[in-house]
Amino acid sequence: MDIIIRENYEQVSKYTAKVIADLVRSKPNCVLGLATGSTPIGTYKELVRMHKEEGLDFSQVTTFNLDEYLGVGMDLDKPYDLDQSYARFMYEELFKHINIKKENIHIPDGRTKVPEKFCKWYEEEIRKAGGIDLQLLGIGADGHWAFNEPGSSLASRTRVVVLTKKTLDDNYESFYKKAGISREEMPHFAITMGIGTILEARNIIMVATGAKKAAIVAQALEGPVTSQVTASAIQLHSGGITVVLDEAAASCLKNIDYYKHIEKVKTEYGIK
Ligand code: GLP
Repeated sequence: MDIIIRENYEQVSKYTAKVIADLVRSKPNCVLGLATGSTPIGTYKELVRMHKEEGLDFSQVTTFNLDEYLGVGMDLDKPYDLDQSYARFMYEELFKHINIKKENIHIPDGRTKVPEKFCKWYEEEIRKAGGIDLQLLGIGADGHWAFNEPGSSLASRTRVVVLTKKTLDDNYESFYKKAGISREEMPHFAITMGIGTILEARNIIMVATGAKKAAIVAQALEGPVTSQVTASAIQLHSGGITVVLDEAAASCLKNIDYYKHIEKVKTEYGIK
């Protein structure tokens, strides 16, 4: 596991975007797993900049988003639906600014009338695409990955989940409030990739910033692997793992000096 610590949000975003861009350049038809939340916004901004200024080409890239609220969603042909779906978020923050093909974008359909069937189909689509090359992840305040709330099985697959009060409160503050939608009107259910699904991605990059995430980041990376902190499943992943943190989010890590040492030595010796 490579734990990369940078001074601030901007540097974290730049580092993360570069990892994604390097993959897109070396494997133009790669499959990216994408995340929502306020944390990856800076990463998406930097990818948009790279597309516009450096010609970063997304024309062959396929994407799969982690999750979506159930009951909302967006037809990408009518992008100005006034909902707070993750589909809308992705369109606004990334997709409308880059040259990705609409048919290559996959986001769980929050308006499906047959959620269970849809979840199976979503898993099948990931398989048909050859699996995810690189999955971008944030971490929720209670340590969740995607919408895998505490108690989710670490072998779980794409499915419908009930959101916790804490997650609803956090996402209300970050997104719904600004859109003038009341806390009561927020969807309480979601479709999410499971932890088992996420762990099948060949590489994982997890991003966290800010002091509010420091304690939960330390639990996920250095604490026991537990379904109570689903991001702790990162310790079970067998592929390439990169965690990008700012100093504030890294501040509760016990082995912080060692992680910094690893990065220094690897840079000195040119080891990837
Ligand atoms: C939501 C998303 C997660 C995300 C989390 C943290 O719960 N489903 O994928 O990691 O929010 O969001 P933020 O980056 O805003 O703290």
